[in-house]
Amino acid sequence: MLESLNALEKEGLDALKALAQAEELPVWYRTYLGRKGRLTEVLRGLGVLSAEERPHAGRRANEIKTALESAFETRQDELRAAEMEASLASGALDVTLPGRPVAPGHLHLSTRMLRRIRAIFAEMGFQVYEAPEVETDENNFELLNIPPYHPARDMWDTFWINDQVVLRTHTSPGQIRCMRENHPHPIRVILPGKCYRYEQVTPRSEHQFYQVEGLAVGHNIRITDLIGTMHEFARKMHGAARRLRIRGSYFPFTEPSIEIDMDCILCAGKGCRVCKFTSWLEIAGAGMVHPVVLRNGGYDPDQWSGFAFGMGVERPAMLHHGIEDIRYFYSNDLRFLRQF
Ligand code: PHE
Repeated sequence: MLESLNALEKEGLDALKALAQAEELPVWYRTYLGRKGRLTEVLRGLGVLSAEERPHAGRRANEIKTALESAFETRQDELRAAEMEASLASGALDVTLPGRPVAPGHLHLSTRMLRRIRAIFAEMGFQVYEAPEVETDENNFELLNIPPYHPARDMWDTFWINDQVVLRTHTSPGQIRCMRENHPHPIRVILPGKCYRYEQVTPRSEHQFYQVEGLAVGHNIRITDLIGTMHEFARKMHGAARRLRIRGSYFPFTEPSIEIDMDCILCAGKGCRVCKFTSWLEIAGAGMVHPVVLRNGGYDPDQWSGFAFGMGVERPAMLHHGIEDIRYFYSNDLRFLRQF
């Protein structure tokens, strides 16, 4: 028994030394140390030994097992190191190669539009007022002169959080917050932000989009101030030759209400597909702040007046860049986003 154990040890160690590749290690392990390997086979013969011989042979078998295992570890390290060195020497890994470039990101098209709009209004003395996207029904509708069941609510399909809380359907509720915070001082702000509408998503309408609201409150503010401000904005944003057209409109929170069109940036009035052969592009809804809204904001409408406007952000960007589908803005396709 002891003889065959000693023979096994020698044979195992020799075989291990003879291995040329790390790949061969598992076969060696299975042959000598595996569950059905040579050592197990020898140990199975322990049963036939006499009671005096058995502990002796058992101890020796355990020694051999440990010896073979540690020899295996050592050989494994040797072979792996040798292979690593060989592969380095053969140039498989060129550590002098330049790394893969990590492309820097850039601002989203909507963000860039917003920044331009902000900069233009900043030059005209408008500050930025930030209001939350989750609003109360009160601010989004009621204090803007749109009571429950008012038919004008149909103008804004709404995501309701619960009976009293909505995702704002426009940036106008910020007017109320801003007035309540600032009265009785004059105001000149823009309120940029994300709005939500419970709408069918189509190439022309998304259920989320940006608006930039404008609000000026002071003494003797007139509709000509509003028109002048919008004209200046249109020229700075879309070119010095821009002309405006004013149409009467209706919003519950402005009186009078107007809609502001700009001559088409593509055909400059000749008529084309972008302006649908009307020569005009709508850029904002606007008007003089309704006396009820002024009062809700804390201003006496006999002493104060104001104008407000609300304009889209994505639509002008689409016109400008010839983007045909608003859904690209939020679908995160890098092939689209990288173009801007
Ligand atoms: N809030 C209006 C809309 O979303 C736009 C608007 C803003 C009109 C301010 C008048 C004054 O349609």
